[in-house]
Amino acid sequence: MTPETNALIDKLAEQHSLTEAEYIHLIETRDADAQALLAGLAREAADAVYGKTVFIRGLIEISNICKNDCLYCGIRRGNADCVRYRLSPEQILSCVDEGYTLGFRTFVMQGGEDGWFTDDILCELIQTIKTRYPDCAVTLSLGERGRDSFARLRKAGADRYLLRHETADAAHYGKLHPEKMSLAYRMECLSDLKALGYQVGCGFMVGSPHQTMAHIAKDLKFIERFRPDMCGIGPFIPHKDTPFRAEPAGSADLTCFLLSVVRLIHPRLLLPATTALGSVTEGGRERGILSGANVIMPNLSPVAVRDKYMLYNNKLSSGPEAAQNLKDLRTCMEKIGYEIVIDRGDSRQ
Ligand code: 5AD
Repeated sequence: MTPETNALIDKLAEQHSLTEAEYIHLIETRDADAQALLAGLAREAADAVYGKTVFIRGLIEISNICKNDCLYCGIRRGNADCVRYRLSPEQILSCVDEGYTLGFRTFVMQGGEDGWFTDDILCELIQTIKTRYPDCAVTLSLGERGRDSFARLRKAGADRYLLRHETADAAHYGKLHPEKMSLAYRMECLSDLKALGYQVGCGFMVGSPHQTMAHIAKDLKFIERFRPDMCGIGPFIPHKDTPFRAEPAGSADLTCFLLSVVRLIHPRLLLPATTALGSVTEGGRERGILSGANVIMPNLSPVAVRDKYMLYNNKLSSGPEAAQNLKDLRTCMEKIGYEIVIDRGDSRQ
């Protein structure tokens, strides 16, 4: 590690901010020593806020039907080989019941942009969950909707919303998405969600096609400014039925490095060790936690649909990734010195 890189890491840990040029330099000159130093500081920062704990969220993938055609995504509308499904509200509620018994206190309803899930249907579902389990948080991850829709869902009891910004560079956004989508509208959704009182999650993929280090530096500056409550960062992984099928997967090392950077930017952030990180490399989730992440989102979807929510090739949905195997996940975390807690796991902002 050069003295300059070392100085940048110290500056980041003290001031929680670098310039774009400094982020680019830090990423480009990183070596194993820099990565280890950064991960150690990131872990210290997370431990100081949250202790040696990991929060869990039960992820329910409610539908893989999507009106969008994002070029990277396996459930894009244009993928005719994707076997589509949609869970009924009853099926979703039984996932929640099962999850509650297993110890989950946050439920994430994630899905493609499926018009069947109208505000009326979602509001009733959210109200039912919140009435049945008032001690639980409801998180939505259902893509772009209008401000009025976000407002209704919030009023019905939704606590949090995850909507990755995907990339903070408009030209890069354009290379990942069809023409009718725009970074400007994505940003509008994110600011609406914040104004409506949601705890908001943004995030991006590492190593997505056409991504440069300058783009990543822009993502980091956006995260500095936007001050999200949560931030999802995982490697891009190609899906065989998308235009990006032949693109290389993002690096697990760089993903972990960026988890550490983001932890130092916002020590209180809720930062998942993503399924994509666990899917791209053996022990990925553990490495994520040791780099500063503090959230894991095991899969609570019905077993029969799990292999259909294929955002990318070889997505994990069994083993410790399955909510039913929480004991195994607990053991994995204990081995690295962390305890899974039964808690809503709100951000300590
Ligand atoms: N590789 C990694 N992550 C992906 N996502 C979608 N497709 C892929 C892929 N091929 C991520 C996007 C989206 C989230 C739900 O999953 O960032 O926001």
